Amino acid sequence: MFYETATNDHGLPYNPLKACVLPRPIGWISTLNGKGQANLAPFSFFNLVSERPPLVIFCPNGPHAEGGEKDSLLNLRENPEFVVNLATYSLRHEINASAAPWQRDKNEFEAAGVTEAASVLVSPPRVKESPLHLECTLEQIIQLPGEVGGVPNHMVLGRILGVHVDDEMIVDGQVRPERLQAISRLGYMDYAVVDKIFTMPRPTTV
Ligand SMILES: Cc1cc2nc3c(=O)[nH]c(=O)nc-3n(C[C@H](O)[C@H](O)[C@H](O)COP(=O)(O)O)c2cc1C
Repeated sequence: MFYETATNDHGLPYNPLKACVLPRPIGWISTLNGKGQANLAPFSFFNLVSERPPLVIFCPNGPHAEGGEKDSLLNLRENPEFVVNLATYSLRHEINASAAPWQRDKNEFEAAGVTEAASVLVSPPRVKESPLHLECTLEQIIQLPGEVGGVPNHMVLGRILGVHVDDEMIVDGQVRPERLQAISRLGYMDYAVVDKIFTMPRPTTV
């Protein structure tokens, strides 16, 4: 099939676009508002976009259930720091729970049933139960073309200042995906867990 995104004339019951770009890693983002209240939410429009310097992006798109921008974005405007907590299979229900449209002042660590752990270089807390965290400082909030529900989409660009890895995840000097059990988003309500790994050295030229 072929369809044009301008008209979405795919003829399918659901827009297939997100099922066509997969898997999408999930950044489970913690932030603090200006009053020091913590917030936690998953974002699958998320990725590492540069190693040197170490840069990540995530995209809070569309409105909060109570209107206006999503809390993660509002918080970053008040306190320009965030933590990326690794989304893992054992935390899948907590991750999903933290995406519910909680009221603005609801602490989503509590709502999702996870524990706050102090960060080293930034003020937002980490999810203690997650085995890997990236402590980040905000570089830029980039407004994207278009809007959903009257609110523009945004891309948050952050610089990774510090990385926590549970030592149990390190085998023979490598952070091992078999141990991390990271999850990712597919289309619709589908997820994948990274549990089939193969190794392929890069080609060399002479
Ligand atoms: C796995 C998963 C991935 C999500 N990815 C995104 C995303 O990339 N961008 C977005 O705006 N919302 C995304 N959402 C929805 C947000 O998590 C949800 O709107 C959340 O309530 C926003 O929280 P906040 O207002 O506390 O920032 C996702 C939800 C789930 C369950």
